[in-house]
Amino acid sequence: MDRRALIAGAAALTLSTPACAAYPPGLPPLKSVSTYPLGVAVRHLHLSDPDWARLAVTNFSQLTAEWEMKMEYMLRDDGSLQFDRADALAAFARTYGMKVHGHTLVWYAQDGLHFQKLKGTPDAFLNAYVAYIQKVTGRYGGIVRGWDVVNEPIWNDGRGLRPCLWREVLGDDYIGLAFEAAHQADPAAVLFLNDYNLELTPAKRTTFLKLCERLLKEGAPLHGIGTQAHISADLNPAAMIVAIRDIASLGLQVHISELDISLRGDRLTNVVKPRLDQLKVFEAVIRAYNDVPARQRYGLTVWSLRDKDSWLNSKRERKGPIADAPVLFDDRGRPKAMAERFVEMVR
Ligand code: XIL
Repeated sequence: MDRRALIAGAAALTLSTPACAAYPPGLPPLKSVSTYPLGVAVRHLHLSDPDWARLAVTNFSQLTAEWEMKMEYMLRDDGSLQFDRADALAAFARTYGMKVHGHTLVWYAQDGLHFQKLKGTPDAFLNAYVAYIQKVTGRYGGIVRGWDVVNEPIWNDGRGLRPCLWREVLGDDYIGLAFEAAHQADPAAVLFLNDYNLELTPAKRTTFLKLCERLLKEGAPLHGIGTQAHISADLNPAAMIVAIRDIASLGLQVHISELDISLRGDRLTNVVKPRLDQLKVFEAVIRAYNDVPARQRYGLTVWSLRDKDSWLNSKRERKGPIADAPVLFDDRGRPKAMAERFVEMVR
């Protein structure tokens, strides 16, 4: 099986990559052993990096844009749309037979001048809101298999919905409206509500799941739950098991949508945790996902290919002099213990 998988992985590659570190023999491409789509986050600059491309195409079957499909990039101040980078990503995915997950249509953290200007005219605001969602989802119909329709709607402590421009103008129903609009534009897309700390903060999970239940009751086309899983090596592994079980209990699709496991127990204090803890937490993630019924497993996405690509090592997020190492491949593209464990555990 290993040899067949290796050949299949190699056959998929038409990239000329002389400078690329050799992929170690013996470890099959991760996607060849995975029973569900295995995703990786991508930035525009990666598409022209042959080392990135070879490693990603070999091991992953799905892409999520880290930034280029967010409103901050897609929507210009004058209300026009900028699709060039998302199109390039879609073309790359088509060339290499990869799926695309859409991230994200509506996010409290990004609104943009176009919408801020419409704040005083709710009707025009609503029209622009629906139009934005429909233009984006419509354009990628048949290409993007699922969308994070609303990202991070819940306060971190679980006290309720976050304030945001969308909610200020449209009320709490900004979420249901977004799902309706996306569904109309692409009825085949799997539509997700996506959030973080659902494992770390049970109160947040409770509020989040209540919101999902309310949306379903109201008839919203909510098809899946994305749990970002930006976690740390000091997370109690049992918390992950409980969270995924809870999330899956609604019967919706489950996407582990942005997995990374920081070695900083607490990113503010910059305490570096042993890699052994990281591996234990990773095992819990895979075990928990193995227990989700196969029909509900939309996929697992890792938030960056190599450690050096991780947002946790970006200027904005990086805390202190020591680089974090939160993902499955090291800076040189060599699989780490987590990648090997994935191959052993996935079923
Ligand atoms: C991050 C990206 O990784 C960065 O490159 C970007 O500059 C900011 O956003 N939750 C999310 C993601 O839903 O969109 C965030 O991605 C990480 C946290």
